[in-house]
Amino acid sequence: MIKLNNIRKTYINGSDTLVVFENLCLTVEDGEMVAITGRSGCGKTTLLNIMGLIDSPESGAYFLNGNNVTALSEKEKANKRNKEIGFVVQDYALIDYYRVIDNVALPLVYSDVGRKEREERALKALELLGIEDKQKCFPPMLSGGQKQRVSIARAIINNPRILLADEPTGALDKKTGMAVIHYLRKINEIYKTTVVIVTHNQELANMCNRSIIFEETLKLRDKK
Ligand SMILES: Nc1ncnc2c1ncn2[C@@H]1O[C@H](COP(=O)(O)OP(=O)(O)O)[C@@H](O)[C@H]1O
Ligand SMILES: [Mg+2]
Repeated sequence: MIKLNNIRKTYINGSDTLVVFENLCLTVEDGEMVAITGRSGCGKTTLLNIMGLIDSPESGAYFLNGNNVTALSEKEKANKRNKEIGFVVQDYALIDYYRVIDNVALPLVYSDVGRKEREERALKALELLGIEDKQKCFPPMLSGGQKQRVSIARAIINNPRILLADEPTGALDKKTGMAVIHYLRKINEIYKTTVVIVTHNQELANMCNRSIIFEETLKLRDKK
């Protein structure tokens, strides 16, 4: 579960202070699949980065799976992130000179899992995403939709309870984008993984259980 209480986040640029959120409260229950939409620059990536323990708010409290994680050290945050959160980014962030299967297995290298088990688990994740036939390919040989499926396989390799996706379909055509959402839904249904997606596309947002719209700074509209 994700619980944000009275979050305030600003960016300071010289003498300018940009208030991205103030008193932001948001709860995502276990097993939900939630979409966050809103105009460009309204703070969606900032919010996802806070949820993913990549960025920190200035004030307010963040409870992740029941633990107050607001004041953890960078090292403790990195550890929690690796165990509890999967992150999918728009530009895939795959390593071009690693085979697909090795890209997917990479997070396990930091979790002390032996090579054979790493490959078995990576293959299973690739099968779930319907892309096991590309396991020995290198990322430059894949289409955008295939790369995004590989990056989703990598994000779920540690069985995270929470999967965060920042515009996972932003670079894809509509049909390929819908296929990607379909796989995120499948992960949500099979593993009961909590999924939070940021998207520009209202049609994709409607494929989630709940859609949250950032209407302007500070205001959230929640449609269940
Ligand atoms: N590192 C940063 N330093 C200063 N301002 C930033 C930084 N990151 C984002 N911003 C600003 O914060 C606002 C929210 O950005 P962002 O969360 O990326 O929005 P979105 O993802 O909804 O497009 C924007 O006005 C953006 O310019
Ligand atoms: Mg963004």
